[in-house]
Amino acid sequence: MFLEEKTIRLTEEIKRLKKERNAIILAHVYQRPEVQEVADIIGDSLELSRKAAATDADVIVFCGVHFMAESAAILSPDKIVLLPEETAGCPMADMVTAEQLRAKKKEMPDAVVVAYVNTSAEVKAESDICCTSANAVKIVQSIPADKRIIFIPDKNLGMYVANRTGRPMTLWEGWCNTHDWVTPEEVARAKEEHPEALVLIHPECRPEVTAMADYVSSTTGLIRFAKESDAKEFIVGTESGILHQLYKQCPGKEFYLATRRLVCPNMKATNLEKVRQALATMQPQITVAPDIREKALACLERMLAVK
Ligand code: 13P
Ligand code: SF4
Repeated sequence: MFLEEKTIRLTEEIKRLKKERNAIILAHVYQRPEVQEVADIIGDSLELSRKAAATDADVIVFCGVHFMAESAAILSPDKIVLLPEETAGCPMADMVTAEQLRAKKKEMPDAVVVAYVNTSAEVKAESDICCTSANAVKIVQSIPADKRIIFIPDKNLGMYVANRTGRPMTLWEGWCNTHDWVTPEEVARAKEEHPEALVLIHPECRPEVTAMADYVSSTTGLIRFAKESDAKEFIVGTESGILHQLYKQCPGKEFYLATRRLVCPNMKATNLEKVRQALATMQPQITVAPDIREKALACLERMLAVK
C-alpha cells in the first residue's frame, strides 16, 4: 500500500475512533506533520496545558512526551489520558529528580522553586510554581523581589529569563539535548547562506546562540512572529516539527533550520499507527498518584493563575 493511502486510512480510522471515545487529540508542534494533521489542538506546552484543563472530552490523547501527558492527567484527573508512545520521555525532565530537588531545597530553604513544565509530577510536587517557555519571564517577575529563586531544570532557559528580568537565580545543570547542540557557528553559517533571513531562536538554546537571534520565544511565539513579520525568510533555531506549522501558517515565506540536527527523537516517536492503537485499546494510560497529584496541581495552578 502506498504511504499516502496508509496515512489516509489511518487518519479516517482515528477520526472514527475519536468520535466513538469522545476523545480530543492534542499535539505539540514538534510532532510529525501527519500527527499534527489529525490533532484537534496543536500548540506549545502552555496552550496545551490550558486546553487540557478546559476540555470536556472524556479522553485526552496526548501526542507529545511523558511530562505533557502527565500534566494533562494532573489537570484533568477525571479524564483518561493516553500517551500513544509510552517511552516518549524528555531527557531534560529526567535531569532533576524529586530527591535531588529536596536536597537543594535544604541548602536554600527560603528560596522559591520555579519548575519548567518539562519536569516529572514528583518534581512539580516539590516545586512552588511552574512555567513554560512562553510565560517564564512573567512567572519570575511575579515572585517578590526579595525572594531567592531556584530555577529547574533548564539552565539555558533559566539564563535567558535571568537576563530578561535582571533577577539572579540559582540555575539547575539541565539542558535539552536537541536545542543545546545548536552552535553559534551553525547559526553564523546559516546567516551567511541566507543573509536576508531573520533568526528565530527557542530559549532552550545556549545563551551564545540566543544572543544571535532577531527574536526569542516559545514555539507558538516564533510562529506568530514569522506570520506578522514583513520578512520573507527565516532561520529556525528550534525542533524541526515547527516547520509544518510555519509553512502552513506563513504562505510565501521560506524557513531554514539552523542545523539538520534539530530533531527530538522523543517527539518523533509518536506516529499515526500508535495514535490509532491508543484509541482502539485505550492504552497506554498516564496516571498520577493522588498525593503527588494534589501538590503538582497546586504548582501548575499557580502558573495558570498568572495572567
Ligand atoms: P514550548 O512548546 O513551550 O515552546 O516548549 C518546547 C519544548 O521543548 C517542549 O518539550
Ligand atoms: Fe525534551 Fe528537548 Fe525533546 Fe522538548 S525538544 S521534549 S525539551 S528533549
